Amino acid sequence: MYVYDEDIINARLNEIKNDFINCYENTFACYAGKAFLIKYMAELVKNSGLGLDVVSGGELMTALKANFPAEKIEMHGNAKSADEILLGVKSGVGRFIVDNPDELKILSEISRANNFTANILLRVSPAVNAHTHSHIATGHKNSKFGFPAEGEMLNDAVKFSMNDANINLTGLHFHVGSQLFDPIDHIQGLEKIIKVILRLKRDLDFTTQELNFGGGLGAVKNPNLKSVALKNFVSPLMEILERECKVHNLLRPKAIIEPGRWIISEAGIMLYTVENVKYLPEIIYVAVNGGMADNPRIALYGAEYDAININNLNGNSMTVKNNNIPVSIVGRCCESGDILIERSNLNEARRGDVIAIYNTGAYTFSMAGNYNKLLRPAVVFVKNGEAKLKVERQTYEELLNGEL
Ligand code: LLP
Repeated sequence: MYVYDEDIINARLNEIKNDFINCYENTFACYAGKAFLIKYMAELVKNSGLGLDVVSGGELMTALKANFPAEKIEMHGNAKSADEILLGVKSGVGRFIVDNPDELKILSEISRANNFTANILLRVSPAVNAHTHSHIATGHKNSKFGFPAEGEMLNDAVKFSMNDANINLTGLHFHVGSQLFDPIDHIQGLEKIIKVILRLKRDLDFTTQELNFGGGLGAVKNPNLKSVALKNFVSPLMEILERECKVHNLLRPKAIIEPGRWIISEAGIMLYTVENVKYLPEIIYVAVNGGMADNPRIALYGAEYDAININNLNGNSMTVKNNNIPVSIVGRCCESGDILIERSNLNEARRGDVIAIYNTGAYTFSMAGNYNKLLRPAVVFVKNGEAKLKVERQTYEELLNGEL
């Protein structure tokens, strides 16, 4: 089961308002829905007044079904289909973040056919090697995302947009990568983008009115560790942006951020039931009723988590009790790589115990699949000691739905 603490989510949304939006003029923030999006989450974001970044027709539909105001939706994606663009146009999304020349052209055509003016940002790849797992670094040279900062492709897209009646280019976007604990990569990205802003001004007399710094703030793995403070990221970025704009006599663009993981990861835990405990001479396996189907992040990125045994909070460490033999918490999928925690300091566990894995709110439910035809777990939100079921556990009937 995925369990979310609503107060923690609201505290993060408030931190964004207090330490960013209310601290600096002309700013905005969106929640990156790819980290975790259900209708209820969209409602919480809507109530906070922040915007929402969606990356597919499915995420857009989720937001629309939650009556999320379309003008506060940013539509992302490096390979948007014509159908998705049309859905975005028809629902009047506030911003399209355009990734490539083909997309720009089709967006212009669809907008013209629908008598619509699309507000857009161009996504720029700043050629920064972010300090994170290579699979979640996104702003490096030769990245599949966005327009390279150097070269004609970006200039051509700006020219095209400036001459197109159905495209309103308001500025630029960059995202260096994800799960970052130090703002250094964002700072490097911003420095490169400022050069691009100056070049576009000089060469094309284009004024960047909006600049989106992306997301990327990291999440810690248990509640005893100190969380990343939003301020540590946004204050150096805002300082640099304001200083450089002053030096170059530029209008300071509206600054936008779009964190996902930082808002939701530490608000979530996952609950598993122990199915069996296997004592081998050199290792102990605690096998649970889920695994890589509900959280593929360990297999994909080597993500690290911490767990506790809820049925034995004050007991002894299983490893210590067993002559320091390592304890591995493993999933139930038919793969040796389906390990949830490789060397866990779990307290002694038995069949039937419930284990909680901390800080699993981001990119777990949203990346879950049905491998081995496992059923997707339920989602529950808790607030003031009360639990509310928000997504039902999948049934065999739903699992087979659509098979002809
Ligand atoms: N904006 C853009 C354009 C992005 O590509 C992403 C994430 C975000 C915002 C939000 O990033 P965050 O604040 O959550 O770091 N599945 C991977 C993470 C992939 C992130 C992709 N883009 C994981 O489980 O670690």
